[in-house]
Formats: sequence, structure tokens, C-alpha cells
Amino acid sequence: MQEAEKSKNSRLVLALDFPFEAAVNRNKILEKAQKVLKAVHPYVCAVKINHHLTLPLGTFDGVQELVEQIRGEGMLAIMDAKVNDIGNTNQIIGEYYFAAGFDAIIANPFVGWEEGLKPLFEVSKRLNRGVILLTYMSHKGASEGYGQTIIDPETCQQTPQYVSFARKALRWGADGVVVGATVPQKIAEIKQILDEKVAIYSPGVGVQGGTTESAVKAGANYLIVGREITNSNNPAEAAHTLCDAIDRIKL
Ligand code: XMP
Repeated sequence: MQEAEKSKNSRLVLALDFPFEAAVNRNKILEKAQKVLKAVHPYVCAVKINHHLTLPLGTFDGVQELVEQIRGEGMLAIMDAKVNDIGNTNQIIGEYYFAAGFDAIIANPFVGWEEGLKPLFEVSKRLNRGVILLTYMSHKGASEGYGQTIIDPETCQQTPQYVSFARKALRWGADGVVVGATVPQKIAEIKQILDEKVAIYSPGVGVQGGTTESAVKAGANYLIVGREITNSNNPAEAAHTLCDAIDRIKL
């Protein structure tokens, strides 16, 4: 990521999301995605793909083509699978997405380590790919899970769930954490735990109400932005504006 960030001079991650289309329009979705990538690649260091594309296009059909385009333009490809199952299944999910060319995958630490995310981390290390952990999501209901107070089994202290996940990100050797741009005070708190050892990715700017300035000032390393760019009449201009705005923020 640091190399891609440097070569693109950008800390913007594009969420390549589009609204629902009937299955017969699959080709239109692929064309739209290719067109947006072609327009925005000078301003973006990585692209995050979600079910918005894997469901209609298929991983080894349209999505793999997009991943090749993304990597060919010097960006990294992140799969937002929010992996959340038993270890064997998590490993196979990772193997398929890494075989399709993804550089990293997003996973959910709620499933734990042993027989949970450990096999996914093992396969990612073996293939030299990354795992990014959800730590505090960007939507309001995140407070019900990521924001609950737990008794940390190691310290026996009352601890916010997201603090425990940030500590696990360090311990498990995660390559990044996702913390909503909508909760800048939590970004700052998590930054204190992670320092610069694990990068913070923040979605939620624009449509979800987060701002570039508050997220970056709080410590986000990368901003993930979707609809603000993909719904725009001019995606290149929208991405350019965001990329410059991130760059201009003084810490
Ligand atoms: P918008 O259009 O709101 O899209 O800019 C945001 C993108 O990011 C995803 N998203 C998240 N992904 N943790 C994640 O891993 C989160 O907390 C989170 N919040 C939003 C969302 O699915 C969309 O692709």
C-alpha cells in the first residue's frame, strides 16, 4: 500500500460500488466499472470490490478482469468479503479471492482466532497477501456490536469491543483495520493503540456523513469512498477533488 500510495500520490481507496441491475444487464455493470476505473486511476491507490460486483459478475469472470485492470494501472485490489465463518471456510474464501488476484481481503474479528481467522491469516501470509480487520464499522448500528463493552479475558477489565479488536489486529499481524470515518473519536483512540504499525482504512465519507478532514486528522491513513465518486456525473473530478483534499490536510 505504501508503494501504491507513493506512486499515485494518493491515499484514496475507491469502493467500486454500483446500484442493483437486473441480471440481463451484467455487461452494462462491467462496462460501467471499467469506465470508472479508466477515469479515476490517476487519483486512487487501491480499489475495494464488494458483493455489488462479485454477485452479478462472478469472481472469475468479470471481477477477475477488473482486478487485472486495477493492478495494471498500479493500484491494489481489496476484496470486501467481511469474512465471518469457521476457519476452513474462511481459508477457502481467501484462497479463491487470492487466486483471482486480490491483494488483500477484509475479515471480521468477531469469529476469533483459533478455528476462525487463523487459517485465513496463514494462507494470506503464505501467498504474501493482506488481511484487513473490521474494528468499528461506519453505520449507526455498529455501536451494538463493535461498541459494546466487554470484559477482556486477559486483563479482566471492562473494555470497549473495538479496543479489544485493535489489540488483536496488532497481535494477529493484520495489515490494516477498518474504522468508520463517521466516528473520528474512535479513529483517534484506535490510532493510539496501533500507532503506525497497522494502517487505518476509513469508509463513510460523503453519503454516510463522515468528513475527509475529521477522519484524516483523527489518524486515518486511507479513506475508502464509493458513491460520492461512482454516482458522480464526473467520477474523475470527484476522485481528484477527494485525493487533493486528503493531501492538503495538515496534521
Ligand atoms: P460509500 O458509498 O458509503 O461506500 O462511500 C462505502 C463502502 O465501504 C463499505 N463499508 C465498509 N466496509 N467496514 C467495511 O469493511 C465498514 O465499516 C464499512 N462501512 C462501509 C460499504 O460496503 C461500501 O462498499
